[in-house]
Amino acid sequence: MRILVTGGAGYIGSVVVEETLRAGHETIVYDSLVKGHREMVAPDATFVEGDLHDRPLLEKVFREHSVEAVIHMAAFSLVGESVTAPGKYYANNVTAGLSLVDAMCACDVSKIVFSSTAAVYGEPEKQPIEESDRTAPTNPYGDTKLAFEHALKAYEGAYGLQYASLRYFNAAGASERCGELHDPETHLIPIVLQAAAGERPQVEIYGDDYPTGDGTCVRDYIHVIDLARAHVKALEILDDRSAIFNLGCGGDGYSVRQVIDAAERVTGKEIPFRISPRRPGDPAVLIASSEKIKTELGWEPELQDSDTIIESAWKWMRNRRDSDRAASSF
Ligand SMILES: NC(=O)c1ccc[n+]([C@@H]2O[C@H](COP(=O)([O-])OP(=O)(O)OC[C@H]3O[C@@H](n4cnc5c(N)ncnc54)[C@H](O)[C@@H]3O)[C@@H](O)[C@H]2O)c1
Repeated sequence: MRILVTGGAGYIGSVVVEETLRAGHETIVYDSLVKGHREMVAPDATFVEGDLHDRPLLEKVFREHSVEAVIHMAAFSLVGESVTAPGKYYANNVTAGLSLVDAMCACDVSKIVFSSTAAVYGEPEKQPIEESDRTAPTNPYGDTKLAFEHALKAYEGAYGLQYASLRYFNAAGASERCGELHDPETHLIPIVLQAAAGERPQVEIYGDDYPTGDGTCVRDYIHVIDLARAHVKALEILDDRSAIFNLGCGGDGYSVRQVIDAAERVTGKEIPFRISPRRPGDPAVLIASSEKIKTELGWEPELQDSDTIIESAWKWMRNRRDSDRAASSF
């Protein structure tokens, strides 16, 4: 297929592009680079620098490349910022997303895989979380992702758009070439590794009195390569139907303390941490039921072990630091 990936210069998008290329799909990356990195785009992909708001450019690209399907990953995703600047999130994650699907409809592109999030569930009523559970986001970021899911359903009814909405839990780890490079970084594993590398003084643990084994929050980490492979599988069902899938590994997940312990094992460094008060709206446990995606798409995580995930992120981070140092010594 000929696939356009929005946000393909970002953390997850760059790995998804590696997997679509590996599966033999011609791949066009469409990214404004507002958060992404040009060097993360796989050399075999076509790169178009453009914003989702630019509907004429989107239509031109769809027509020129005879695009057949879209993987839509471009968005803003900082939960805290979405609370202080909600307009920025609605404009990018909803309004600009509508510009994309309108351009698709105008060009007869009828298949889309969408990067949704576990944040649509808010404070879950039970664990593991199933796709049919109540959605009740507790922040504007989650609201915007849920609003876009609703829009996709309406476009399916009105125009026959077929969609797969993938509700990611915690993406982590790296491929050989691509890893996590957010600014600011809010995700636990890169933060822990920065502390291991001496690039930050310590890791802040927000609460150690949760009703979990060691008192710290438990999350469902999914290796970014496993996550990327699920997108390739999701494309395959879009001839027949639309669907929503959780995308996590299920099982017991890992607590913040377990992640720090694993990172100490992998890096051989002591990782300083400090206990801070709980953050409002942080559920004790967030674990996906991944039964639906396993049964319906035949997807299985292969890299879910915490040491494997952290090892890949650590290796990528050290390689990147080495090449940055080499470049600056010229
Ligand atoms: N990282 C996670 O654990 C996680 C969890 C749940 C959901 N998600 C979702 O997955 C997607 C990718 O996340 P990520 O961590 O790779 O983020 P990222 O910030 O690394 O990548 C997002 C990319 O989208 C691009 N972009 C943003 N707005 C754009 C616009 N208007 N036009 C064109 N390009 C634009 C950015 O330049 C960037 O390259 C996002 O939609 C995010 O909400 C991520």
